[in-house]
Amino acid sequence: MENKQVVIPSFGEPEVLTIQSSPMPEAKPGEVVVRVAFAGVNPIDVKTRAGLGWAAAQNKDNLPWALGYDIAGSVYQCGEGTQKFDVGDKVAGFIGFPLQGGGYSQYISVPEAVLSRVPEAVTLEAAAALPLAGQTAIQALDKVSVQEGQRVLILAGAGGVGHIAVQLAVAAKAEVFTTCSERNLDYLATLGAHAINYEFAPVSERVEEADALVDLVGGDAALDALKCLKDGAKVVTVPTLSAELICEKAKLLGFEATGMLVDPNPEQLDAMLYLVSIGLLKTEIYQVYPMEQVVDAHKQMETGRTRGKILLDMQC
Ligand SMILES: NC(=O)c1ccc[n+]([C@@H]2O[C@H](COP(=O)([O-])OP(=O)(O)OC[C@H]3O[C@@H](n4cnc5c(N)ncnc54)[C@H](OP(=O)(O)O)[C@@H]3O)[C@@H](O)[C@H]2O)c1
Repeated sequence: MENKQVVIPSFGEPEVLTIQSSPMPEAKPGEVVVRVAFAGVNPIDVKTRAGLGWAAAQNKDNLPWALGYDIAGSVYQCGEGTQKFDVGDKVAGFIGFPLQGGGYSQYISVPEAVLSRVPEAVTLEAAAALPLAGQTAIQALDKVSVQEGQRVLILAGAGGVGHIAVQLAVAAKAEVFTTCSERNLDYLATLGAHAINYEFAPVSERVEEADALVDLVGGDAALDALKCLKDGAKVVTVPTLSAELICEKAKLLGFEATGMLVDPNPEQLDAMLYLVSIGLLKTEIYQVYPMEQVVDAHKQMETGRTRGKILLDMQC
């Protein structure tokens, strides 16, 4: 049997992405082989493909390398000693992070402990949208310990991380302000946030006295957003590139500030899958691209303007 994978034989433009045929994986003890239905595409995939960041640095002598950390599919084979799943069960997971990757594969063997069961009521598309972005959203909100009644500002509420963060903060009964372009204003209002058009005026002219900032944009937008905060506010800045600069500035202004690196946590994925199954959390899928169109998927991701998530259909 064939196991097609999307790999990078070298770093570069989206066109370096190549489909290769690899041997079928075998489940080692404690592992299950997942037949991947959908793989999520994340900004880190694009960055690594381009040769930027430490996942690229660590894998530079390991090419061709299969990208991808988000998978949803079904259990194809169970290794010795596995107990959690049977063949055919629907599963999803945040796998191989940060150095192994491999999510852009039709079949992959992973420890069963890293996988979550996908409830009947949840589609595999929705499940594939959640792992990396959803866990980033939860962990970012935890860093600023969002409480009921607080005013929380989330930059880039329409993105993969943002649309989950907005919904979770609204569910925690915070008053949520979020930035987006004009075309996403209605969408974010329907999620329960005060949506602010960053193209119209800087957010600092529209929001004041916020208790917490979840920065998903970085750079100048984040520096401007610091002006929206009240004394003692908490800041988490998620894009790694500008994190040091933003934290330094935030601390000078007297705020508690931190960067973060998402840490895979299957219990958090379990919780989000449950919320989706009862209709309390909705994933937004911008587009599902057949695996063969992975170049277009990366080009779309690179626009930085995707609403929600992009997925690859690994079986068509
Ligand atoms: N440190 C970590 O562990 C970690 C984990 C996950 C993600 N990240 C980083 O966090 C960032 C967000 O990730 P993501 O997956 O959510 O990205 P994404 O899905 O690509 O975000 C796209 C969204 O950003 C919005 N946007 C673009 N420029 C904006 C601006 N100036 N102000 C407000 N919104 C803007 C766009 O909305 P409009 O079209 O309306 O502008 C679009 O919906 C990325 O930099 C990513 O690399 C870091």
